[in-house]
Amino acid sequence: MGYNIDNFRRIREEYKEKYKKAEADADVRRRELWSKISGLRALDRALSDTGPRLLNAVLGKSNESFEKVKRDVERLNYERNLLLATYGYPADYSDPRYECELCRDSGYVDGEMCECMKLRLRMAGYESAGIAKLMEHQTFDNFRLDYYKTNPRSYENMSYVLKTMKEYAAKFDPYSSQNLLLLGGTGLGKTHLSTALTRALVDRGFDVVYTGAIGMLADFERNRFGNSAGSESGYDIDRYYACDLLIIDDLGAEVSNQFTVSTIYNVLNSRISTGLPTVISTNLNQNELNSRYWDRITSRILGEFRPLVFLGSDVRKLKLTE
Ligand SMILES: Nc1ncnc2c1ncn2[C@@H]1O[C@H](COP(=O)(O)OP(=O)(O)OP(=O)(O)O)[C@@H](O)[C@H]1O
Ligand SMILES: [Mg+2]
Ligand SMILES: [Zn+2]
Repeated sequence: MGYNIDNFRRIREEYKEKYKKAEADADVRRRELWSKISGLRALDRALSDTGPRLLNAVLGKSNESFEKVKRDVERLNYERNLLLATYGYPADYSDPRYECELCRDSGYVDGEMCECMKLRLRMAGYESAGIAKLMEHQTFDNFRLDYYKTNPRSYENMSYVLKTMKEYAAKFDPYSSQNLLLLGGTGLGKTHLSTALTRALVDRGFDVVYTGAIGMLADFERNRFGNSAGSESGYDIDRYYACDLLIIDDLGAEVSNQFTVSTIYNVLNSRISTGLPTVISTNLNQNELNSRYWDRITSRILGEFRPLVFLGSDVRKLKLTE
């Protein structure tokens, strides 16, 4: 699985920094208390000495009993709390304040990744897949079939499309999943289902790139002039070739010239020969596809992609009248 290892490394570093910061901030507050409350520093030192004392008692390396040291800890804590209260501070004033109390910002609980870190990784996955903004509103779960009910044929058809895309997400495997071609007019849910697919696969740990045809071509354009560092979407173009699933939305919205056509051809051709799947969505019908792209591309597209046709009335308009 092409799990996005860069995100993982970056987030692990983030957690280390978060932990360090919580400890450093606590230290600042502790010093503040020491400067204001006389006798507190000595108490804190006595308290931190109890750690080694407890250990020695357990190991039988000291004359003190474990019980005795424990009683000392309780007494010292009691005195400390009382002293802080006298000065109007809460007892936990100088404790580290972690963002997540469960893992104390380590990212792990008993050797298992903490939920907070899983969530962070997923969010980073959405961001690097390019759907962070879209994903909140476009999932499989909120894709409604009743919009297509005005026409029995489109309802039946869209039920099939939804079922097929869900199954595609559930069974996805970069080494065996097929290419999909989402065809259909404006506002029928192509982008919605592409985003939902991206999200479902990112959740399963796959490295997915969702991109508009225009954005992808802009990246290649920049790269052509030796300036990949400033890539609009933050990707270096290698990811278009290497990701587990590439989703190119709105093919046909880009200007058509020799550069754009040959770039699209190269990307598709390379992914087909390495066996990595691609999902394309387009507003163009078959004739328009033919006239717009070289035969080389259209024969590739038509030959290697499974078509899914979106039918119905523009959902954007239907939503306006709700
Ligand atoms: N079946 C549906 N259930 C709920 N919302 C939908 C559905 N279909 C489309 N939408 C919503 O309608 C709007 C338009 O849909 P979408 O962007 O997916 O259309 P599209 O087929 O990509 O159109 P275009 O070809 O213009 O890009 C979006 O806000 C989308 O979330
Ligand atoms: Mg769209
Ligand atoms: Zn946590």
